[in-house]
Amino acid sequence: METIKAIMTRRSIRNYTTKQVSKPQVKKLLEAAMNAPSACNQQAWQFIVVSDRDILNAITKIHSYAQMLKTASCAIVVCGDIKAEQCKDYWVQDCSAATQNILLAAHALGLGAVWLGVYPRMERLKDLQKLLGLPKKVMPLSIISIGYPKDKVKSVKRYSAKKVHYEKW
Ligand SMILES: Cc1cc2nc3c(=O)[nH]c(=O)nc-3n(C[C@H](O)[C@H](O)[C@H](O)COP(=O)(O)O)c2cc1C
Repeated sequence: METIKAIMTRRSIRNYTTKQVSKPQVKKLLEAAMNAPSACNQQAWQFIVVSDRDILNAITKIHSYAQMLKTASCAIVVCGDIKAEQCKDYWVQDCSAATQNILLAAHALGLGAVWLGVYPRMERLKDLQKLLGLPKKVMPLSIISIGYPKDKVKSVKRYSAKKVHYEKW
């Protein structure tokens, strides 16, 4: 899919068919994630791929806005690895770029995905660290719910000239 078209037609997908996402597809998503830009090119990220139904269901108990995981084929948890940071405090931007790359790659592959926010909701973050056995310095920023889209979600245009300023405010 052409890049601009992918960006303009991506939507959050929360309803999935029962078709399973394959391992090579997940690998492609992870490759897209790790090709994201990062501060100092530090790549201080770690990814947890979750396909286990019990774990996916357990996440829905931690995160009330993640109920679609009950029917998702899998999820990728994008984490910042604080210990691996060279440019301090940039892990949030780095992991956000990786998350967006996964969303766009999923869309380009004909999959459906949605970004589920974790950081900076610290209670959610701590519960997820515990559930997934993450070290203390590995901070989950987002969970991406992934599956085959059940229905087509229309693209939207959000461009607003009022939000653009040239040279100065
Ligand atoms: C930081 C962040 C956190 C989000 N958290 C959730 C969430 O917890 N649950 C959910 O269903 N969608 C979540 N979303 C998806 C947004 O609701 C969605 O992107 C927004 O409504 C725009 O719709 P679109 O993605 O279809 O363009 C999140 C998106 C971002 C960027």
